Amino acid sequence: MADAPSPHLPGRLGSTGLPVPSRRLRRLRRTPTLRRMVSETRLSVDDLVAPLFVREGIDAPVPIPSLPGVFQHSQASLVAEAKRLASLGVPAVVLFGIPEQKDAEGSGASDPDGVVQVALRQLRDALGDQLVLIPDLCLDEYTDHGHCGLLDARGRVDNDATLARYAEVAIAQAEAGADLVAPSGMMDGQVAAIRAALDGASQPEVGILAYAAKYASALYGPFRDAVDVTIADGGDRRAYQQDAGNRREALAEVRLDVAEGADLVMVKPATLYLDVLSEVAAEVEVPVAAYHVSGEYAMLAAAAERGWLDRQAVALETLTSIKRAGADLILTYLAAEAAEWLDRGSR
Ligand code: PBG
Repeated sequence: MADAPSPHLPGRLGSTGLPVPSRRLRRLRRTPTLRRMVSETRLSVDDLVAPLFVREGIDAPVPIPSLPGVFQHSQASLVAEAKRLASLGVPAVVLFGIPEQKDAEGSGASDPDGVVQVALRQLRDALGDQLVLIPDLCLDEYTDHGHCGLLDARGRVDNDATLARYAEVAIAQAEAGADLVAPSGMMDGQVAAIRAALDGASQPEVGILAYAAKYASALYGPFRDAVDVTIADGGDRRAYQQDAGNRREALAEVRLDVAEGADLVMVKPATLYLDVLSEVAAEVEVPVAAYHVSGEYAMLAAAAERGWLDRQAVALETLTSIKRAGADLILTYLAAEAAEWLDRGSR
């Protein structure tokens, strides 16, 4: 108990002899309907974006061991999964490609017949405008060294040479039917370079969902299994992705991306960075996305498999917390399941 008398605790004593609080917050928690009426944060299927993997040269989906329930799709199974998501009401998908061949420049990323470009055309044919199609725009799935950009003679990621490649990838993705492109490589100036390339290629309507504040996180491990990426020479991405301890820097990244023409900005990962997400959401006037990444999903999936956590309850609590922190959109491997749960009104 506080020493000083609180204005909310007047002197009246209850039957136990203790002061009776005049403001009773529990009044509004008494029934499910009251709780529903005063709920501040409502997770909706409209908030969800499903990341999907499409792999060249396979004819049946391949399970990803470290992401139980998530698959590398063939072109055909990708279309089927996209139709299922659309019928559940999920508004958007983010696409990642796994090419058969990788090379130093990541050629497959901008090849008009590359795996993601083929997928975009098929999805547009099958679904029209029912799903917002968002290809991830990066080179790491396509480079033999696993970095998100081109390497210079000393093996370092060359920022400005990489921008020219991102411009080519953006144009290929736009011409294949992307609604938005999502640059995830954390090169300086990538949003401006991509905006200029899209406008120059008469694609002014294609928007940019910028991975603006992206941390060099250990939570991307299962994703790298999913896209078959190993960074050469035991390397990492710390020379381009952000340090986990930096918060002000995230705001600088976000402000720059908005100034360069980002239509939406993203914070990634989500749950370990809710403070960053909250500050970003308070700062910008564009919609804010958060990526609940592979490792965040895997931790929950593993604990739920062991019976240590209730998968549905923890998943919905997690997604609600991300929304409460300020996300307008949540990229999550839980999208289809969450859509089903929300549809059944089980929140
Ligand atoms: C890079 C990219 C990564 C993720 C999305 N885009 C991996 C990385 O930066 O190494 C991670 C997504 C996840 O972990 O779910 N193309």
